Amino acid sequence: MMDFPPDTILELPSNISATYLSEGAANVVYSINVPPQSNTPQHGDIQEKGEDTATNPWHGKLLRFRKDLPTTTPTLDAHIAFRTSIAPLFPAEDLIDIRLVSLGSSHLIQTLNAALRAAEEASADSPRPRQRHGVYLADDPHALLITDMSPPTSSTLIQFKPKWLAPSPSAPPGSKRCRTCALHAKRGISKPSFCPLDLISSSPADVRRAAGLLLGLPASAPTDSTSLSITQNGSSVVEDGSTKPAAQNVVPNANHNDTPPTAATSEQLHTLSRLTSWALTSPLLRHLRHIQTTCDPYGVSHLLSSPSSPSSSTSLKGLQIAMTLRDVTVFLVVPDGEGVLRARLGDLDVKSLGKVGEWGRVEGVLGGGWYQGTKGAEGGGREGCWLGRQGGEEEGEGEKEGNGVREKEGMGLKGGKEVKERKERGGCIGQ
Ligand SMILES: Nc1ncnc2c1ncn2[C@@H]1O[C@H](COP(=O)(O)OP(=O)(O)OP(=O)(O)O)[C@@H](O)[C@H]1O
Ligand SMILES: [Mg+2]
Ligand SMILES: [Zn+2]
Repeated sequence: MMDFPPDTILELPSNISATYLSEGAANVVYSINVPPQSNTPQHGDIQEKGEDTATNPWHGKLLRFRKDLPTTTPTLDAHIAFRTSIAPLFPAEDLIDIRLVSLGSSHLIQTLNAALRAAEEASADSPRPRQRHGVYLADDPHALLITDMSPPTSSTLIQFKPKWLAPSPSAPPGSKRCRTCALHAKRGISKPSFCPLDLISSSPADVRRAAGLLLGLPASAPTDSTSLSITQNGSSVVEDGSTKPAAQNVVPNANHNDTPPTAATSEQLHTLSRLTSWALTSPLLRHLRHIQTTCDPYGVSHLLSSPSSPSSSTSLKGLQIAMTLRDVTVFLVVPDGEGVLRARLGDLDVKSLGKVGEWGRVEGVLGGGWYQGTKGAEGGGREGCWLGRQGGEEEGEGEKEGNGVREKEGMGLKGGKEVKERKERGGCIGQ
């Protein structure tokens, strides 16, 4: 916990108002409005270091509530799991700030649920996506206060899930698809999506290919050499995330319909270049891969085949962390012009170990031809998975850099130095 600020529980002021912002499958997120002079009592006597008591802790934050679903756990338990398992693995600046809020006797949940129901009326002019109707907030005494990553004007938010940044340890030798591409092929997802191994490759062409797909740009964009002009444009939109694809882009003019545009705008090409440069050098992405691979070195199939080994509980804990970090969201704020890009991870809910059987089942299915590429069309990336383009995991011409294929820790990959440095801040617990 070296880098992570001590925890405090905030008590919800009675004069707060919350406005629906967005929702995923398991949580609803609200923007908040609290008068600036609110005196916010805090449980416990730990004062966050560097935080002025006069600072409004609600400023620049959102409220996140869990939905009433069998898959969600009480917010207090979920927060403790996050604090103990995930937060220590990252420098605090890599994660959105998350704090526990006690709702007290505010009846806020009831108020918000009434609003969610009202938003489903046919006459309602509501941003609530139809496929989310019928599920409401759990009657939980806590919610979470999280950093608002909505971009300021003159910036754009790119939001995406980097998914599995290394091949699955359960995949058979010679696999032609990574875990993410194999699952996409299995699901028959025809919408082109990026391969995570492209995104984290040390080859600029690979990264640009992934970035183009992530931004929903025309197929020609990654190789387009049109000279770039910078367009200052403050517009930014946060997609609602209703179907939660691996990548969500929120770049102006990105391709959201089924008719592929023939050419990218100069503004899009500029964003493409900036995203590519960021991904090529991002210590955050490399650290994420490092934790994913070191926490789960053997894979779920191996764990399930030797459940009574003495190290299995440590291995299961590692698997739980790795699976959590294979489903996080990157919030990347891209300022217009040439300012520095800022990234933080969010959607850090620790996965339930009750899912281990399901994870094992998926590996079994994918190993029946989807990893090997003998089943399914290459619908994912336009040129298929990074792994397939290398000629297979076992058949490549020597050491492949950086994508977890025979990768030695911190060697031969761009960003290896940063990985080493960050490892000192936190490697996988118990590994
Ligand atoms: N820190 C944030 N800043 C800005 N917007 C956010 C933030 N966190 C979440 N959102 C918005 O709210 C949506 C839902 O949030 P979140 O991903 O936490 O829900 P979820 O139910 O866990 O999603 P999933 O279905 O992926 O598990 C996101 O897709 C995003 O649009
Ligand atoms: Mg989630
Ligand atoms: Zn892939």
